[in-house]
Amino acid sequence: MRRKLAAGNWKMNGLRAALAELEALSQTHPEPDVDILVCPPATLISSAAQTVENANISIGGQDCHAELSGAHTGDISAAMLVDAGASAVILGHSERREDHEESSEMVRAKGRTAQGAGLAAVICLGESLAQREAANTLDIIAGQLAASLPDNSTAENLVIAYEPIWAIGTGMIPNMAQIGEVHDFIRTRLERRFGAGVGRGVRILYGGSVNPGNAAEIFAVPNVDGALVGGASLKAEDFSPIIKALE
Ligand code: G3H
Repeated sequence: MRRKLAAGNWKMNGLRAALAELEALSQTHPEPDVDILVCPPATLISSAAQTVENANISIGGQDCHAELSGAHTGDISAAMLVDAGASAVILGHSERREDHEESSEMVRAKGRTAQGAGLAAVICLGESLAQREAANTLDIIAGQLAASLPDNSTAENLVIAYEPIWAIGTGMIPNMAQIGEVHDFIRTRLERRFGAGVGRGVRILYGGSVNPGNAAEIFAVPNVDGALVGGASLKAEDFSPIIKALE
């Protein structure tokens, strides 16, 4: 039985005042029936971890380097994330793949390092609109899965986030049959690659324009184990009903 996961990705949003949203979230969900993960910008990870110290909310990073330390100006290592209080890290988000030309092979290297440092890797996959319109979605997902996932992943240290690029921040989402088709496909591939035990245990999140109005319908789709939420995770009043829809 997979425990549901509501993950928030604040992206490049959030000054210290935003910690009040985390405080509000922890008060609204003192004993949640699902896992809650919030990934603020790196500058807030340490203070966010302190804010939720006594709450059932985990804190994650939004990226890390493939090496644990070294001459990489501006980068953050997995060990630093752990040291700051993070227990997970988002890797291979389409914005990183596009803005920083991250390949799936780079994502896999980062994932291996992150898992080795004790972090759960939330690895993102998804097709562009052109790829969907060309009926290439499952081929794209298959390629990203094969190349992005570290070999020794477990149900505890790997989470998949399926995020169609065209649905991110646009208000558009695939229909439920389309979401179900991709999630079922990912589940089958995970079982084939890692065996039934691990393959059935890894959580698969949907991401892309999830909001309080559409969350329940998306969460009713088989093999959707939660969501990776961007814009609607910034305010507790928006994220909280999404969490409740998962409970
Ligand atoms: O990581 C989160 C996703 O990119 C979704 O963002 O909920 O703002 O569409 P969004």
